[in-house]
Amino acid sequence: ATVTYDFNITWTKANPDGQFERSVIGINNQWPIPTIRVNIGDQLIVNAYNGLGNVSTALHFHGMFQNGTTNMDGPAGVTQCGIAPGSSFTYNFTVAQPGTYWYHSHVRGQYPDGLRGPFIVNDPNSPFKDQYDEEIVLTLADWYHQLPSTLLKRFISYANPTGAEPVPESALMNDTQGLKIHVEPGKTYMFRVVNMAAFAAQYFWIEGHTMQVIEVDGVYTDPMEASMLYFTAAQRYSFLVTAKNDTKANFAIVAHMDEDLFDAIPAGLNSNVTSWLTYEDNADFPQAKEISVEDLQPFDDFDLVPVDKMELLGEPDQTVSLDMIMDNLSDGANYAFFNGITYVRPKVPTVFTALTSGEMATNPAIYGVNSHAFVLKKDEIVDVVLNNLDPGKHPFHLHGHTFQVIARSQDDEGVYANNVTFPKIPMRRDTVLVRPNGNFVLRFKADNPGIWLFHCHIEWHMASGLSVTMIENPLDLQKSLTIPEDHYKACKEANIPTIGN
Ligand code: C2O
Repeated sequence: ATVTYDFNITWTKANPDGQFERSVIGINNQWPIPTIRVNIGDQLIVNAYNGLGNVSTALHFHGMFQNGTTNMDGPAGVTQCGIAPGSSFTYNFTVAQPGTYWYHSHVRGQYPDGLRGPFIVNDPNSPFKDQYDEEIVLTLADWYHQLPSTLLKRFISYANPTGAEPVPESALMNDTQGLKIHVEPGKTYMFRVVNMAAFAAQYFWIEGHTMQVIEVDGVYTDPMEASMLYFTAAQRYSFLVTAKNDTKANFAIVAHMDEDLFDAIPAGLNSNVTSWLTYEDNADFPQAKEISVEDLQPFDDFDLVPVDKMELLGEPDQTVSLDMIMDNLSDGANYAFFNGITYVRPKVPTVFTALTSGEMATNPAIYGVNSHAFVLKKDEIVDVVLNNLDPGKHPFHLHGHTFQVIARSQDDEGVYANNVTFPKIPMRRDTVLVRPNGNFVLRFKADNPGIWLFHCHIEWHMASGLSVTMIENPLDLQKSLTIPEDHYKACKEANIPTIGN
């Protein structure tokens, strides 16, 4: 089927934590923005009109492979020009994968303004379809009272010599607090949980209940029991929860921001957000039990086994080695580096450079030093070895793929030492945490021609340049990709030269 959404992207007002009303970016004058829902195999059409008046925008469908449609992926400066105020732009692609995703603005600093929502792909043939009665979608987020554009300016400025990231005021569930989720005794619920945070990772648990994890970032997994989950920004899990038969009580559902990420904890910060699994509307709604940081031991996603049992891919044809640091240069501004390079998005979106440079498209130099391009050959096996030379945690996301996570260190283990035995059936996902002064190795097959960013999903770090560009099989892209007229028009309106039309 074809599923169409007409989105007028506009400023509106909201007060999701009940403490402060601010401008937020909504859709059709509503906020929270709608959940996109399709069935696997559907064609999705999103007609996006930029009604913001003052800023350009673009929508990214996080986790979608966009096979054959890299120009529908969304990052401005990479696969499209930003949509100018007063203009329209159509995203049109086939959804060929099941699971729990989200969509969000991919213009610098913009999704923390509220332009982010769940994207659910229903699968009538899910291996778990007979194991639950109902589905519940839950979003987690961090929330800032000041406009993220203001916060970002201060973050990247002389006024911030230590590079401290903005700390959120509140945590949210379904863009609110104190949500009540009614359950029926004995029924089983499939929760789909997405962390749409700009920054804060969250610990998540349901008091008195265990969770059976069955999906990670769109990949079905053998069920694994968890009493607590850890969601970095952009990660998703689905899990089954069976309601008790014999209770008259209600139970707290808790998300707790990982305060390790914050350089300082402001007075009055409440890192918890509580919702309730509600059996009895007339019973108590208990506060979450006090929990100490030592108790926050989530299960290890590295141990998950995909249902499809896809084995470790063969030896890599190419290894992309990235040493990352966060640093303050002498001008006081904050920059992040991979191998000494701070990503700056090019004026002409990288996809147009790839399409118009003939044989030269396989030469990374033509994409410009600041887009930090790696060219991948058709169907080659690629390893990404990332060494985190920073004492912080970072969630890394690759567009256009899921990857096998084949090695990952604990804290402070330093650079990757090449002496690790890889799992036979590695866990796959699209966003993965690297630990402080630690490392990981990811492996994937370059079977999806396109232009794909690989970046830290902390929006503040993305803005300070913690990104590289994967140019995957550009010669095939030149033969197969067609760019619709409105995509050229977006560039014309922004006075950005593209060749073609
Ligand atoms: Cu949610 Cu560049 O991604």
